[in-house]
Amino acid sequence: MSDNRVQFGTKLGVIATTVGSAVGLGNIWRFPYEAGTHGGGAFLLMYIFFILVIGIPVICAEFIMGRGTRRNIFGAFRMLHSCRQWAWIGYMGIIASILILSFYSVVAGWTLEYFTQSLTGGIASMDYGVRNQSFDEFSTGWRPVMWTLVFLAFNAVIVLRGVRKGIEKASNILMPILFVILILFCVNSLFMPGAREGLEFLFKPDFSKVDSSVLIGALGQAFFSLSIGLGTMMIYSSYFSEETPLVKSAAMTASLDTLVAILAGIIIFPAVFTFDAEPAAGPKLVFEVLPDIFHQLPGGVVWSTLFFFLLFLASLTSTISMSEICVAFFCEQLGLSRKRAALLNTGIAMTLGTLCALSFGALNGFRIFGLTIFDLFDYASSNVMLPLGGMLISIFVGWFIDRNVVVAQLKGTGTIPGWFLRLVIFSLKYVAPAGIGLVFLAGLGVI
Ligand code: TRP
Repeated sequence: MSDNRVQFGTKLGVIATTVGSAVGLGNIWRFPYEAGTHGGGAFLLMYIFFILVIGIPVICAEFIMGRGTRRNIFGAFRMLHSCRQWAWIGYMGIIASILILSFYSVVAGWTLEYFTQSLTGGIASMDYGVRNQSFDEFSTGWRPVMWTLVFLAFNAVIVLRGVRKGIEKASNILMPILFVILILFCVNSLFMPGAREGLEFLFKPDFSKVDSSVLIGALGQAFFSLSIGLGTMMIYSSYFSEETPLVKSAAMTASLDTLVAILAGIIIFPAVFTFDAEPAAGPKLVFEVLPDIFHQLPGGVVWSTLFFFLLFLASLTSTISMSEICVAFFCEQLGLSRKRAALLNTGIAMTLGTLCALSFGALNGFRIFGLTIFDLFDYASSNVMLPLGGMLISIFVGWFIDRNVVVAQLKGTGTIPGWFLRLVIFSLKYVAPAGIGLVFLAGLGVI
């Protein structure tokens, strides 16, 4: 009996930490806006397809390397293969994690603004009609810079003090609450006048809309949302016990993460059509539509206070996992103290984050390839670096490391049917790399 309890405890812990990293602004802010700009239903379908055939195998690959070596991404590559060039994937992961931390903190900063606006009741005036002005006025000013810095300071304190455990414990209790709130909001959205149109937009695929940008967007969203491609899941799995079933945990993480994204879609799109917003509004979509939802909800101010607070916490558990990649690198490879490493990471992110925050206002005219700094960071990391990292990680695990390590990790202490084992290895060797390669080729206009 007590044995069972211990086991249950660890299983829950595994799922809670990986889901804590995966679930964040990626699901609630990024998914609806990406789905909105890429035509809705067809995007959702491609996104789910990529999660299944590419995302889950890549999580497994990261898990195999992490638990197999119990090292960070650099150590893992070194331990598993003598060729040092593989470590370049690690460098790409570091750069991607800093770029993501920079723009992610801007959006997390927006949630802090909305949280304080909810506390003071100011959100009530952000309602229909003045909505567009409210967000634009706020986002083009200097306050987002302040909030970005405040958010990064919170993040730094946690990373510095090593009180990660406390935050994660708290989030294990609070995230289920966020989940329940999301379900309540979904029900509320289903009764809106625009519900039918919204759900059709989200669930009815229009394949004529699928082009290479939809494919790249859906693949990037799958990687971003699952926190894969730069070694986050690798680090986390290095703490797994031998009993943790890797494929099952990967599938659980992916399912819960996808579920939260779909819930966010069901909340947002009926509201988009009810309040006459533009589905393709881009990064500001959710922040324009949510105040409308809260406005028509009884006790809206209380709901929005709670919601933005929980969203802030969900963002924090995600940014902690991103920072860890960089901090571990500065400590272990460059020999800095943890304090210096955390300060360096925060300093870089504060500088780049300020540029991202200003790219909605003062720096809006500054564009590279037609993209603002914010969009460029997002595009380069999510749509290019993460899938490229994931492709190389699955090639590495599928082709270059000792097959016995792969089989031993996939089996763990349990048993796993032979055909299933072969299927996972087949996905790692062929399906995931080829799938990502094809999307890249489509993006480059080659096919
Ligand atoms: N997946 C997180 C989200 O959806 C963001 C995140 C955390 C992430 N760690 C990551 C994305 C590592 C890419 C890589 O909000």
